[in-house]
Amino acid sequence: MFMPAPFDLLIPRRVVYGWGRREELGTLAASLGRRVLLIDGSRTLRRSLEWTALIETLEKSGLKVESVASASAEPSIQDVDEATEIVRQLSPGPGDLVLAIGGGSALDLGKAVAAMAMNGNGRSVREFLEGIGTGAVIEHDPLPVLAVPTTAGTGSEATKNAVISCPDPACKKSLRSERMVPAIVLLDPELTVSVPAAQTASSGMDAITQLLESLVTRKAQPATDALCIAGLKLSLGTLNTAYHHPDDRVARESMCLAAFYSGVALTNSGLGLAHGVAAALGAICEIPHGLACAVMLPATLKVNVSVLKDKLKSLSPLLSTDPGWKDIPPDALAEHVIEAVETLCRELQIPSRLRDVGVLQSQLPQIAAGSQGNSLSGNPVTLSPGQLTALLEELW
Ligand SMILES: [Fe+2]
Repeated sequence: MFMPAPFDLLIPRRVVYGWGRREELGTLAASLGRRVLLIDGSRTLRRSLEWTALIETLEKSGLKVESVASASAEPSIQDVDEATEIVRQLSPGPGDLVLAIGGGSALDLGKAVAAMAMNGNGRSVREFLEGIGTGAVIEHDPLPVLAVPTTAGTGSEATKNAVISCPDPACKKSLRSERMVPAIVLLDPELTVSVPAAQTASSGMDAITQLLESLVTRKAQPATDALCIAGLKLSLGTLNTAYHHPDDRVARESMCLAAFYSGVALTNSGLGLAHGVAAALGAICEIPHGLACAVMLPATLKVNVSVLKDKLKSLSPLLSTDPGWKDIPPDALAEHVIEAVETLCRELQIPSRLRDVGVLQSQLPQIAAGSQGNSLSGNPVTLSPGQLTALLEELW
């Protein structure tokens, strides 16, 4: 008899999904508070008529809107501290909510500011970061967050962490607390239609990497396994369509859901080798996160192939309900997925070698050292520092 190991499952308390449902933004925000502290990240969206309509929705619901910050790149320590200070000047408290709308950077900035506004007490977010902080922890509930992703990829709308860039030494570290999961997530796939093709590709590959890493991680559990399989069925054969046909509604809907599922999966089950290395590639070589994940994904799947094989075989009944998968023998599913990922990377014009995304050979030891951390420790196959360096050399 199947007996799952004990697990915890953290998910946002309300998820609202559907094409065009951004019209409900005001009502949803009003269910969390009366004053909206707005953090956004999409310059294209801000310039659009759509933006005016969104703000009007909030105002029609009787909400006061305070614009706090815009995230143009992954938030730095300074970005979080500055935005937190702006919020502190507004005396935040009951009745306030943070509305984070944009790509993963805006959502991460919003979640971090919501947490720091109620916890920092004048201290820098640096003190709270994993690995480099002073051990300070999020003791009080953050301001409630309403997360509205405008890209399909990071899954930040469902996660308990915010990734923060740190200078000197260059690294990316998480502010993490179970209290940081957004209260409400509004998933309107129509908001992702205007995302440029290159960003559709890289954020989509981030989601696919998260789904595949969470599936085989050491902390995998039945609920996230089911979400990972559902997300892979939605995304693996679809991302190329969203890339080439940005208006394709089914493709945008599929990717939006797959990204959300990947966020729930990673926040509960963790990630692996590709994300461990991607953090270092981002911090040291400034390679965008999704692209770094995509370059590392085929090799990561090959390193973990025996676990992937067993996992997909055991979950084959979930895959066999789908016409695209039902004729593949359970023993061949892992190879099929690896081939599908490699084909997809080629179709999306994602380079297969580290040198082709701007990595210098001399940077490889620093990248290997910088890859150690939370994600890498979840990888089902342990790699020694020497094995990791050799793998990076091979991929260079
Ligand atoms: Fe990611």
